[in-house]
Amino acid sequence: MDNQTSYDRTKDLKTFDDRKTGVKGLLDEGTKEVPSIFVRPLEDRSKDLSNNPENISIPIIDLTHVNEDSTSKAEIVKEILLASETWGFFQVVNHGIPIEVLNNMIEGARMFHEQDDEVKKQFYSRDMSKVVTYNTNHDFYKSNAVNWRDSLYIIALFTGSFDPQDLPSVCREAILEYLKHIVKLGDFILELISLALGLEQDYLSKIRSSQAWSYACHYYPACPEPELTLGTSKHTDSSFITLLLQDHIGGLQVLHDNQWVNVTPCPDAIIVNIGDLLQMISNDKLKSVSHRVIAQTIGPRVSIPLFLKGLFSSPEKYGPITELLSEENQPIYKNFTLEEFYTYFFSRPVDQSGLDYFKL
Ligand code: OGA
Ligand code: NI
Repeated sequence: MDNQTSYDRTKDLKTFDDRKTGVKGLLDEGTKEVPSIFVRPLEDRSKDLSNNPENISIPIIDLTHVNEDSTSKAEIVKEILLASETWGFFQVVNHGIPIEVLNNMIEGARMFHEQDDEVKKQFYSRDMSKVVTYNTNHDFYKSNAVNWRDSLYIIALFTGSFDPQDLPSVCREAILEYLKHIVKLGDFILELISLALGLEQDYLSKIRSSQAWSYACHYYPACPEPELTLGTSKHTDSSFITLLLQDHIGGLQVLHDNQWVNVTPCPDAIIVNIGDLLQMISNDKLKSVSHRVIAQTIGPRVSIPLFLKGLFSSPEKYGPITELLSEENQPIYKNFTLEEFYTYFFSRPVDQSGLDYFKL
């Protein structure tokens, strides 16, 4: 029986994948039920914690005065430290990125997914060596339930660069403009986190080796049976930090004190979260926290994460930062190259922490 089920599932996956029109394609055809490849096993669903506390939320940090005087900056650095140690997540407001740039990015991402299928299909691929790809779930054939989500990816981890001409024309300008601002904000946040850890201001932005990042434009179509599936399964990010722009729909949840807490959309905010790489090099001082996106009857929802990482081929060894270690704070992780880290990270089941493997 099991063999029969897994055979059918493989066939169904392949049929869906070959269509190259994603989850959105199902809706366009009038699908009223969630197909079985998306249905989460009952035991996973029953393990869910369903209490979403109304009155707590991830910290909001206002950057308005960050460059005005050293007292304001020190105060903000303190808030970032507390948020990174306790939540692993915070939202920044008044970060200096013009609102039009954010709105154009959300609109551009939506336009990519809503453009003519024939144009969009040309980008559909699972070839990890390609810089620009579009598909439904990067772990599509590995996971036990497909997520209700389509994504456009730009992965500049191997080359550290990309050719703007490879970007989809419908959102090329919006992406280029957004990237210019968001990568700069990301490095600025890394400077504040460096200070929070008691390091030189440029410590972290230097070690993340220049232009290495990956980026996605996620599109979560409305879902007819949201209780059966998820938009994004529970996971942690592999990055140093991730910066996420989301539209007004909501659905992102963060695991905090064993409860799923909603990250309520805050206009013009950028969500920042600590990834596994930063948890490891901070020797567990900063926390890479599990998060997920629920499926909803409302939609589509658009979200745009930028993952600040290091270059795959970087020869450096990463590990707990020596300056942070002491007699009482012995290293928890061994040293590793980013190639070792990513190779392991992409081969493990996505819902499993990538951290244990690197523990001493
Ligand atoms: C991710 C992620 C959250 C979202 O892509 O790693 O967590 O809101 N996305 O789409
Ligand atoms: Ni994530």
